[in-house]
Order: sequence, then C-alpha cells, then structure tokens
Amino acid sequence: MAEPLQIALIGAGVMGRQHYQHLKDLPEARLCAVADPGPQAAAFAGECGVPYFADHRRMLDEARPQAVIVANPNALHVATALDCIAAGVPVLLEKPVGVHLDEVRELVAASAGSGVPVLVGHHRRHNPLIARARELIGEGCLGRLTTVTALWQLQKPDSYFDIPWRREPGAGMLLTNLIHDLDLLRHLCGEVTEVQALTSNGVRGFANEDSAAVLLRFESGALGTLTGSDAVAAPWSWELDSGENPIYPRQPDQPCYLLAGTRGALSIPQLKRWHYAEPGAGWHQPLLSSQESFQSAEALRRQLEHFVRVARREQAPLVSAADAGNTLALIDAIHRAAETGRACAPEPISAE
Ligand SMILES: NC(=O)c1ccc[n+]([C@@H]2O[C@H](COP(=O)([O-])OP(=O)(O)OC[C@H]3O[C@@H](n4cnc5c(N)ncnc54)[C@H](O)[C@@H]3O)[C@@H](O)[C@H]2O)c1
Repeated sequence: MAEPLQIALIGAGVMGRQHYQHLKDLPEARLCAVADPGPQAAAFAGECGVPYFADHRRMLDEARPQAVIVANPNALHVATALDCIAAGVPVLLEKPVGVHLDEVRELVAASAGSGVPVLVGHHRRHNPLIARARELIGEGCLGRLTTVTALWQLQKPDSYFDIPWRREPGAGMLLTNLIHDLDLLRHLCGEVTEVQALTSNGVRGFANEDSAAVLLRFESGALGTLTGSDAVAAPWSWELDSGENPIYPRQPDQPCYLLAGTRGALSIPQLKRWHYAEPGAGWHQPLLSSQESFQSAEALRRQLEHFVRVARREQAPLVSAADAGNTLALIDAIHRAAETGRACAPEPISAE
C-alpha cells in the first residue's frame, strides 16, 4: 500500500474534530498538522501529537501537507481554499462551499486553472442509502418522477442560540441546515430551475428565518415542496430519521423525503418502495410495497476515503466546487424569492 497521505486540518472546532475521529482510523491517511487560531486548538494538536499553527498559511509553508481538510467558519472557506490551491494542496472543504456566488466562481476557476481538486463536504451524498436511492431512480423504478416532498422539521434547543453568530444574519437554517437537503434533492432529482418561497422568524424572532416553505420546479418537470422549521417538536428530518449521527435520538419509522413517480414511489431514509402489480392499475387495486436493502456505512468515513483518492488524482470529486456552488445558488434563489415574493431561478455556476 502507498504511504499514508499527510492531511492537515484547518479549523479544529466541532466539525474538524469529527473529521479527525474518522481520519485517525483510516490506514491510508494520517493527520500531520493543525491550524486554528482558537484558544483550544494548540491543546488539541498536542493530543493528536502533531505540530500546531495559529495561521494556516504558515502551516502550508512549513508542514507541507499533501492534502487539507478545511472546517473553519463559512465566511473564510473560499479564501482558505484559495490559499491551499495556490500551495498546490487538494482540499476537502466543509459546506457551504462559500457564502457569495462570485467568490465560489473564483474558487471554481482557481481549481480548474491549477488542476488542484476541491471536494466539498456534502457528506450525505456518500451515505450508501443515498447511493442506492439514486440508483433506483436512475433505473426507472419510479417511472417519470413527478412530485417530491421534503421535510426538515425539528426542534433546536434554545441553548443552541446562546452562541451569538447563530442569531445573526447569514446563519439561518437555510444556509446551515436545509442546504444539505437541497443538495440531496439536486443529487437525487436533478437541477432545480425555479423556486418560490415564504420564510418566517415568527417563533424565535431572530434576524434569521426559523421556518420556510419552498416550492421547487425541477428541470425534469417534477414539482417539489420543502418545508422546514428548527422550532417545532416534530420527528421529520434527515437528522432524526436517518440515524447517520448518533447524537440525535432516532425516529426510524419517519420519512424525510417522499419521491413519487408514474410507476412507483420511494420513502427516504427507509428506502420503502410502492408500486402496482400491473401497468394501468390505479387506486382501486392494492398498492404493493417492498423494502430495498443497502450496506450501511459511515458517510463521513466514506467521504474521507474518497478524498484520499481525489487527492491522489485517482477519482474526480463526487461534489466539486461548481456542483456545491449550484446548491448555494439554489439557496440564493430561495432567499431572493422569499424577499421579493416572486418566482426566482438559480444563477448557475459553470464547471469552467
Ligand atoms: N457537514 C456537516 O454536516 C457540518 C456540520 C457542522 C458544521 N459544518 C461546517 O463546518 C464548519 C465549522 O463548523 P463548526 O460547527 O465546527 O464550527 P466551530 O465554531 O465549532 O469551529 C470552527 C473552528 O474554526 C476555527 N477558526 C476560526 N478562524 C480560523 C482561521 N482563520 N483559520 C483556521 N481556523 C479558524 C475556530 O477557532 C474553531 O475552532 C462550518 O463551515 C460548518 O458549516 C458542517
């Protein structure tokens, strides 16, 4: 086997440490440095037994990593990734890929121009159940995909908002949480060409939305809805239903996405399928159901394994900067639609 890939971590907060938990068990990679100006970071680097740097540019110069995981605050994502690209170092960049579409275009151009790959951390795409759902849709099990119903309804505890930036503009649940759901909807159902949206801060009263109702028109012609709230005592969300992260007590019977087509329907994360026995049958005949199976595996670990192959130029990123940019463009269109009350189209980010 090749020598373990030397990976540095920029941003050793909650998410950076989660990446480390998987990295330390991965034979094909090894943590080689930590860069983070925060007060806990030097001690964390010490626990990991690697050199510590307050400044990531110094780390790139001195530690000379072969790849980097960037998990610092959103507003720093693009600038940090550009520094890594300038140093010729492939990046696993946490979501969102950036905050503004123009900076993401700059990142896409830098990655394309230099040939240094960027993988964006929309890790749910690496979950085997999503891969299986995508296969089923691609194989035509649903016929013509017609309606898509997505739910993200849960209760964040009040203490979540004790951290000031979580109450401030720019940190709303659309960019923080629903971006994951919208990324999966794009991955499973194709591009969205038009959105309409209503948002409300009626429960918490902060600058950001605590609830949203979004209408989606997909390029395929399918129509969808996404309703979200972080202020409801409800069980319908990827977090609670998928079991992907054990910090959320699971509601295994509850779906968060319902996809329906002319020949069948699918609930996610259950991967339960419905169809009629005969073509041409309808509501007077029994609707049959079956359970699809898949081999479960940790999405974050699979994402890291993929990143090692991306950094070694053995695979193209499953989620490139341009691809993640198009998810950000969808969030941008939803914000514009909510502000103006008009239907809005996402501004596409091209792959160069
Ligand atoms: N994929 C997911 O499901 C998921 C989940 C949570 C967070 N995230 C993303 O991970 C990123 C970090 O979120 P978090 O919850 O870990 O936040 P956090 O506040 O816990 O951690 C951020 C860390 O970045 C450090 N930092 C600040 N400025 C820095 C700089 N200039 N250089 C290097 N480090 C710097 C901070 O000191 C802190 O340790 C965010 O972009 C967030 O969107 C992704």
